[in-house]
Amino acid sequence: MRAAPTATAVAHPNIALVKYWGKRDEHLIVPLADSLSLTLDVFPTTTSVQLLPGGAQDVIVVDGRPATGEVLRRVTGFLDVLRAHARRHEPAHVDTRNTVPVGAGLASSAAGFAALALAGARAYEIDRDPTELSRLARRGSGSAARSVFGGFVLWHAGPPDAADADLASYAEPLHDARLDLAMVAVLLQTGPKSVSSREAMRRTVATSPLFPGWLASSGADVTAMRAALATGDLPAVGAIAERNALGMHATMETAIPPVTYRTHASHHVLDHVRRMRERGEQTWSTMDAGPNVKVLCPVSDASRIAAELGEVTGCRTLVARSGPDATVTTGVPT
Ligand code: DP6
Repeated sequence: MRAAPTATAVAHPNIALVKYWGKRDEHLIVPLADSLSLTLDVFPTTTSVQLLPGGAQDVIVVDGRPATGEVLRRVTGFLDVLRAHARRHEPAHVDTRNTVPVGAGLASSAAGFAALALAGARAYEIDRDPTELSRLARRGSGSAARSVFGGFVLWHAGPPDAADADLASYAEPLHDARLDLAMVAVLLQTGPKSVSSREAMRRTVATSPLFPGWLASSGADVTAMRAALATGDLPAVGAIAERNALGMHATMETAIPPVTYRTHASHHVLDHVRRMRERGEQTWSTMDAGPNVKVLCPVSDASRIAAELGEVTGCRTLVARSGPDATVTTGVPT
């Protein structure tokens, strides 16, 4: 039997400036609100997909080890989505290599499913433009829709009464953004998290009394963020991003039972970033579903700010900037 050709794609993580937190449709992964992110230039994920004609089942390898449990279930489920689109049945061999610590709130699933969407679509010969690929990536992990594009990206929730919710929810790059933003990641902890973001999101929507207020304000945050990006207004971008992220954490911390990703160390960084701002630095915090804090700042100040945060926390810091579109690097010819 001749081996099927392999398609390989690379994608980068993204960090939301206005967060995605809460789904309208759990199966299709359609969010309750628009979100807006920056794709980074660090921690790429490289994924190869090779079809296994005549094979009995999918083989999934993540960072050199066979995937099990939830990861295996999610990747196989996503391959089923690709197969349904392609009207094909062959199982696939997926080999994915992360460079980001898995499960640390640095969005390995966003880069992972964006790379898998591109490589998988190519392997199954699904001919899709980037907008359609963002819709496909969304089915693996919501935030993956945004990692299909580089730079600043808007993910549309689509109208609540959309006739086709899947079609209405996709990501697009924001070409009018005029800001050279840096993000300093303070890597407080790189172990897997105790509650998955998927479960935390579900619990928050179902039980947090603060969630409706945060959701309503996040619509206004997207509008204000777009305007601030278009005029290159870093203080406005930073203030909106910090407020939106802290609000999201307030919703999950008031869920029943509460989800607490912020640790003492996170609070220490959040406080320090605020103090730096009080003494005139341009620094604002954002956090995702983990304890790590990402600090927004001007590119020209980033290494100095990273050095200070490293000294204050004793932790590794890393400076990221705007990163590229996801791309297919080796492909099955179409
Ligand atoms: C806190 O995209 O990981 O990072 O769609 O359930 O796979 P699923 O969730 P996921 O959630 C990311 C949540 C977040 C905020 C964001 O990236 O917007």
